[in-house]
Amino acid sequence: MFRQSRLWHSQNKSVALVPTMGALHEGHLSLIRLAKKKGDKIVVSIFVNPTQFGPNEDYNSYPRTLNEDFKKCSELGVDAVFLPSVSAMYPDNSSTYVNEEILSQHLCGARRKGHFRGVCTIVLKLFNICAPDIAVFGQKDAQQSLIISQMVRDLNIPVKIIIAPIKREKDGLAMSSRNKYLLPEERRQATAIYNGLQKIKKWQNDNLSVAQVRRKLIRFIQREKDIRIDYVSIVNINTLSEVSRPKKGDKLLIAVAVFFNKARLIDNIVIKW
Ligand code: PAJ
Repeated sequence: MFRQSRLWHSQNKSVALVPTMGALHEGHLSLIRLAKKKGDKIVVSIFVNPTQFGPNEDYNSYPRTLNEDFKKCSELGVDAVFLPSVSAMYPDNSSTYVNEEILSQHLCGARRKGHFRGVCTIVLKLFNICAPDIAVFGQKDAQQSLIISQMVRDLNIPVKIIIAPIKREKDGLAMSSRNKYLLPEERRQATAIYNGLQKIKKWQNDNLSVAQVRRKLIRFIQREKDIRIDYVSIVNINTLSEVSRPKKGDKLLIAVAVFFNKARLIDNIVIKW
């Protein structure tokens, strides 16, 4: 992969990387389409990264649909699919990890210990191997995108990070490989997440405080009986720390994580207060 990327560079072609864990859906494909606009050669990596899953998470059951993934990549004209094995990425004696220490304390990082350490480590490894000029990530994983951007600044990594908007199903549910876990009734209830996020504008117009908006959102989502809320947080978009009294015009991230029986889903919107 590295030799191929170097060859492209020697031909004055820029390389754009889209890192994924596979089970590709329209959200991933929208990243690939954006990458094609920004770079000459497109690399999609598919690697279900064990170090970003906790011991009780879904590493083993994570959907793996390689044949379909390849087909989608070739239909979009992807130039290379990078598909390393676990033993190639993590040889027995590997002992170095990348830890972002501040943004990772919030939201998903607070609940999924070690998750972003696994993400940063694998993304840096993918950058080193694929040597991209550009890498595209999704706003769906807002915290991940922010942490990767921070890592790139902190470690002087010569990759331009581009963040793509969230792709949603017709009824608003954010696309995710984990939506496959939902039973039909859970899938129906899952629309409450985005429906709730969309109510925020109205609640803002009613002059509610941040705490009141948060409580309303929690109540709205909790009306669905199979949803268990992991967190509902209203945070500063740059620092990810909770806000209580934002100034008018401040940009806030409203981030939600919920559990169904088998699935943990996340979603978010950015608002101006
Ligand atoms: P994965 O969940 O496969 O997501 C790959 C990329 O697709 C991420 O940047 C994610 O934000 C983006 N994405 C997923 N669903 C999306 C949607 N509905 N709209 C827009 N973008 C979406 O995120 C990971 O994999 C891993 O943590 C990875 C970065 C590959 C490191 O292992």
